This record gives sequence, structure tokens and C-alpha cells, in this order.
Amino acid sequence: MSAALSCKQIEVAFDGFKAVAGVDLELDRGEVHFLIGPNGAGKTTLVDAITGLAKYTGSVVKDGEELRGKKVHHIARKGIGRTFQTATVFENLTVAQNLDIAAGAGRSPWTLLRRRKHLPQHVTDTMERIGLKDKADTPAGILAHGQKQWLEIGMLLVGDADVLLLDEPIAGMGHEERETTGLLLHDIAADRAVAVVEHDMDFMRAFAHRVTVLHAGAVLAAGTVDEVSDDPRVQEVYLGTAKENADAATA
Ligand SMILES: Nc1ncnc2c1ncn2[C@@H]1O[C@H](COP(=O)(O)OP(=O)(O)O)[C@@H](O)[C@H]1O
Ligand SMILES: [Mg+2]
Repeated sequence: MSAALSCKQIEVAFDGFKAVAGVDLELDRGEVHFLIGPNGAGKTTLVDAITGLAKYTGSVVKDGEELRGKKVHHIARKGIGRTFQTATVFENLTVAQNLDIAAGAGRSPWTLLRRRKHLPQHVTDTMERIGLKDKADTPAGILAHGQKQWLEIGMLLVGDADVLLLDEPIAGMGHEERETTGLLLHDIAADRAVAVVEHDMDFMRAFAHRVTVLHAGAVLAAGTVDEVSDDPRVQEVYLGTAKENADAATA
């Protein structure tokens, strides 16, 4: 089976500074693939490149189509969905309306804004799946941080994304919410490819099928959780980062 998404030699430069410096990445259906690495490693920029928000050289192929140079909305329609570090839901609309809009990309603005009596079945199913069924009529703006992230994931699901790129979905979540999120990721990855940008190692160990470690824009290591955890280069980067943080904290 070919990969759901295949990225080769992705390079993104900002004024000559290579934020992403030749990254290869394959995402497969059925897997939760963690992208980890210290702050500034290039994780978000890589996701930006794949989704058409950052110019790059190299190649991103999905279903046999080269996506480099394609517009953001074209890439989204090809089934590549992403979330942002800060959730981007429509705060004034309810959970159900947010999902309904995400599901109805082809409908007119008028029918989208009108409140519908009967939601499509896949909207209702998705609300159940992301654990927000009892929040259907709650304005998204007053959801807890974690619930907004789940709603955003739900919006990708109803939009039929089958490659999901989630940028730090558990940042700011408590232990229980993290656990719920991890289980949700496994659930949706059953028939999709899910990439999770994260730097929480405990969360990664609990939920990653495969891991790619980025450092200074390049792939430092890739493999199973055990393989990358045992890699001395990875330990050095993480222990080095931990030490810098400790130094900064005591400075
Ligand atoms: N728009 C931009 N212009 C210039 N430099 C940027 C821009 N976006 C990101 N960078 C730089 O690229 C590097 C990678 O950033 P980023 O992808 O956000 O890292 P990560 O998500 O791994 O923390 C950082 O050094 C960052 O400062
Ligand atoms: Mg980032």
C-alpha cells in the first residue's frame, strides 16, 4: 500500500534561513505519527508547507498528485486538514453550526447561516465521536480549551479530511483531556493518517505508532517510540533542551 501522504526533501527558507532543511516524511493510513522536536525545530513550518501556507521546494504527493504550488483550498479539498496551535473555530456559532458549516463547504452562505432543524447524520455522529454531543447548542467561544480542539478535529472529520495534521492539540490540556484526546486520535486514525506535532514525551510514548524527530529543520531520527527514545542523538537534543530550560529558570 502506498503512503497516504509522501513528502520528499521539503525545504522552507525565510530570508535565506532554512527553517525546514530537506525533510522526508511519509504518513500512512492507520497510524498516529508524532512529529516531535524542540521549539523552533521547524514542525509548524513543515505543516504550513504541506498545507500550502509556506512556500517550499521538494515534493508533497497525495493520491498520485503533486501538491507543491497548489492553493490552500485545493489542498484542503484533497483531504489534507490541519489544526492550529490556537484553535480557529467560529466563536459566536454553536458547536453544531461549526460542524454543519465545515460539512457543507459546497452550500451557499445563506443555507449555511440558517439554523437547520435537522442536522446531517454525519454531523450528529461526529459530535458524538468528539464527545460534544451534549454541547450541540453551546457557542464555541465558551467551550473549554480542550473542547475547542476536539471541535476543530471534528470540523476536519466532517469535511472528509483523511490526512490530519494537528499542531500541538494537547497544549494547555489537563491529564484527563489528554487521555481522551489520545484515544480520539487512535479512533480517527483507524482509516486515516494522523500526524501530531507535540513536544510532550509522555503523551508521545502513550499514543504514538511512529515518531519523526525534527531538530534544526532536519530529521534527527525516525522510527518507533522505543527506537527514537533509545537514540543518543535524540536524548542529547532533549536533555540539552531540558538543561537550557533549567538554566533559564534559575537565571
Ligand atoms: N514567517 C517566518 N519568518 C521567519 N522565520 C520564521 C517564520 N516562521 C517560522 N520561522 C522560524 O523558523 C524556525 C522554525 O519555526 P517553527 O516551524 O514555528 O518551529 P516549531 O513549530 O518546531 O516550534 C524558527 O527558528 C522560527 O523562528
Ligand atoms: Mg510550532
